[in-house]
Amino acid sequence: MEASLSVQSTAKGQGNYGHFLRYISTTTTHSKSRHSIKLLLVILFLAPLRSVSTYSGYIDVGFAGSAMSYVDTDGDFLYSPGNLFSLSFYSFSAQALFYLCVMHMASKEVVWTANQDSPLSHSDQLVFSMDGNAALVGSNGTVTLWSSNTTGLGVKRMVMLDSGNLILVNGANETMWQSFDYPTDTLLSGQVLQKGMHLTSRVSNSNMSSGSFSLSLAQGDLKLLYATSSSSALSQTYWSMLQDVRLVSHGRGTPSYVRFDSTGLNFVSDNGAVVSSISWISTATLCKASLHPDGNLVIYVFSSNVWAAQFTALQNGCSLPLSCGPSGVCKSGQCSCPSPLQALNENNVAEGCRSLAAPSCTNVSSRSLLLQEIGDGLDYFANNYAPPASMSDLDGCKKLCMENCSCYYFFFYNDSDSCFLYSQLGTIQSTGWGRMLFVKTNRALESSNLTAPAGVGGQPPSRGLPSFLLPVILGSISFIVLALACAFMYWFFKMHRVHFPQEDDYAEGDDVFLDTISGLPTRFTLKELQSATKNFSKKLGEGGFGSVYEGVLPDKTKVAVKRLEGAGAGQGKKEFRAEVAIIGRVHHMHLVQLYGYCAEGSHRLLVYEFLANGSLDKCLFGEGKKPLEWNVRYQIALSTARGLAYLHDDCREKIIHCDIKPENILLDEAYNAKLSDFGLAKLVNKEQSQVFTTMRGTRGYLAPEWIMNLAISEKSDVYSFGMVLLETISGRKNLELTAVSEKRYFPSYAYEQVERGAFMNLADERLNGEAVCIEELIRAAKVALWCIQEEISIRPSMAKVVQMLEGSLKIPDPPSSSFAGNVQTNMKEVMNTSERSSSFSNISKSAQIAVQLSEAR
Ligand SMILES: *[C@@H]1O[C@H](CO)[C@@H](O)[C@H](O)[C@H]1NC(C)=O
Ligand SMILES: *[C@@H]1O[C@H](CO)[C@@H](O)[C@H](O)[C@H]1NC(C)=O
Ligand SMILES: *[C@@H]1O[C@H](CO)[C@@H](O)[C@H](O)[C@H]1NC(C)=O
Ligand SMILES: *[C@@H]1O[C@H](CO)[C@@H](O)[C@H](O)[C@H]1NC(C)=O
Repeated sequence: MEASLSVQSTAKGQGNYGHFLRYISTTTTHSKSRHSIKLLLVILFLAPLRSVSTYSGYIDVGFAGSAMSYVDTDGDFLYSPGNLFSLSFYSFSAQALFYLCVMHMASKEVVWTANQDSPLSHSDQLVFSMDGNAALVGSNGTVTLWSSNTTGLGVKRMVMLDSGNLILVNGANETMWQSFDYPTDTLLSGQVLQKGMHLTSRVSNSNMSSGSFSLSLAQGDLKLLYATSSSSALSQTYWSMLQDVRLVSHGRGTPSYVRFDSTGLNFVSDNGAVVSSISWISTATLCKASLHPDGNLVIYVFSSNVWAAQFTALQNGCSLPLSCGPSGVCKSGQCSCPSPLQALNENNVAEGCRSLAAPSCTNVSSRSLLLQEIGDGLDYFANNYAPPASMSDLDGCKKLCMENCSCYYFFFYNDSDSCFLYSQLGTIQSTGWGRMLFVKTNRALESSNLTAPAGVGGQPPSRGLPSFLLPVILGSISFIVLALACAFMYWFFKMHRVHFPQEDDYAEGDDVFLDTISGLPTRFTLKELQSATKNFSKKLGEGGFGSVYEGVLPDKTKVAVKRLEGAGAGQGKKEFRAEVAIIGRVHHMHLVQLYGYCAEGSHRLLVYEFLANGSLDKCLFGEGKKPLEWNVRYQIALSTARGLAYLHDDCREKIIHCDIKPENILLDEAYNAKLSDFGLAKLVNKEQSQVFTTMRGTRGYLAPEWIMNLAISEKSDVYSFGMVLLETISGRKNLELTAVSEKRYFPSYAYEQVERGAFMNLADERLNGEAVCIEELIRAAKVALWCIQEEISIRPSMAKVVQMLEGSLKIPDPPSSSFAGNVQTNMKEVMNTSERSSSFSNISKSAQIAVQLSEAR
């Protein structure tokens, strides 16, 4: 009987008993014996009443309830119509403190809190009064812990929506207040962050109180801020969306607010157009962006009943503002206190460090103040986001800090003569570059302390990071992907292919898979590769899912050996199979050659040829490098195009590379380009024109169809090639935030210049027009703009691109409609469509099997 009642828990049913309860509780509010009466009520009435005490969808004005009344439902009392979210009195198990929260029911995660800093006792009430105001009222009835401030707005109803938004509506069903306007530490899909709104971190996972970190929209940028002390209004920026390399620009316009939805974190202009975004590829519609207690911003999608992380703002553990506590130095995840700073807690250096004597400027004469150099090669996150206090030499900087009573630390960059003053520091990063940190100390105290036997000098590195940082470190593995480019830089080119005696011990599942692929390259044993690489002693760099080592085969051929390892190995195995399967069977002078592989036990290794000139990005954007000459650039563009055309047209199956970017284009000693890293590549049956895949490439080079979750085809590679071609011509990144506004997004700028016929403006400025062949420049610019057309069908094939670059095919002028505008409209359409998977339904079984070739277990 009770079970069936609880299924039909309706507002109506509650009404009868609820009014009775409220009557009793209001009449006893001022009674001394109120608590005992309530307790009695609970015992006498609530147990049988619990089945009718919750609400579905909405609550009308005239409600009052406390945590005590909803013990049986874990505090839940108002459910959204689809039971996705609930309004609840939430409490951490060990505490008798309650928070009015919106909970995501499937994961039991708190997504909004009304009273973050003013917890309730079990009997404090939520009162939704007849005047339309919702408030949390302290037990004596006089203290208001939180209020919606909606008195007199005609509010009639409190509604819990399936989006996770709690709204207060008036009689005409207009929203007068919504929880989405007052976010706590989480944004949900559909939520908008307007200027002045912010997320605030919690102190810890078990303490709701406001922490030191916030995410806020200011000056047209979305920033993560660290408040060094609660009294100080000075916050230090440690992440900015505009400076994140994963931000993709969609056109011009001034961002006005941030909209978070299942397509991404989007900057939107006043007229509703998406200006730029950080996006991911997922078919899930429910997403959340959470500001974690450690200060990291992580975006999750809810799929298969779990929250899966899609984006992590800070991927390197050391870049979190307090990874080693205040003033601690973080180096590769290890914390230490540099002299003359002392550990706050000798037993755990990760808690941070303090100066021996924080001098008080007012009564210490500047004579007794000392500026002491802490170390070289230290840097601070906030230096990247604020202008320097001055541009002067070291002496000027010292003087500036000495004369400023609130300056306790300063950083000095001797390469740019920049000076950054701080009164308090979070964690300092050890970078190894010539950047100096000085600390202001009290000379007298300093010397007396120096004579003391203990406590002076550098602390030994701590045993490691606190456990809460572990996820961050795991997250940083993805950062390693970026370092892949460095790995290839050292590759040297060798023409001859080498053979080792082949082993026949195929045993495990992976090997069975490898068996089914014909024409595989040489199989090496682990022993052979250990001796070739001198037991993996010379590391060339770290790449996606592993490291790359230099090796020499017995016949003196230099090779690069990529070893999948660590936590990435499981995920990396997919890439291993894809790479062996694809690159092992294609041979072309513009594709990097795979000499062999090794699959023994849990070991997975790939053996490649060496390439002398490293990757294209190092040659184009590398610091202090001589700019590539024009004819070299053209050669690179042409050979890249040839390699891609071969993949698309001349293999048994069409191969879509899916990750064309400068990092994956390697250069031999004659600057012939060779495509590398086929870990994301897809094989496609010749009859099939397109596939759907959830694999991800690299932002900035990804065609719009990727971002919009549409099927991809070889034309997606064409788009990426176009983006790379623009960077090859210009020698700059396509998105450069430090550039003047019209040049910030190079494709838009290139478009204007080509329309005006001002081609020379597109060539790398560092070349000064020297030996730039104008015919080639015109060809390259036009081809690039054709390639990055948003309309997939009008992008040329790679075969055509080769002909156009060779000059054997006349190039029409690129269409004059603004491609940037098209992207915006399409992005908008996608955002308004929840049923996006329909576009993949036309993919036949054989294509899916082809895709699964590299995605199977
Ligand atoms: C939560 O953190 C705040 C601020 O650090 C502290 O004052 C409060 O006592 C903590 N609450 C609990 C329950 O630990
Ligand atoms: C500075 O002066 C104030 C009062 O004049 C005194 O209380 C304080 O201890 C002094 N601070 C130092 C560091 O000497
Ligand atoms: C003094 O130093 C603080 C940082 O400690 C800085 O914010 C402030 O701008 C400086 N004041 C002047 C006048 O340079
Ligand atoms: C900057 O400092 C580094 C190391 O301290 C030094 O080697 C270099 O010469 C300095 N550069 C300039 C321009 O002073």
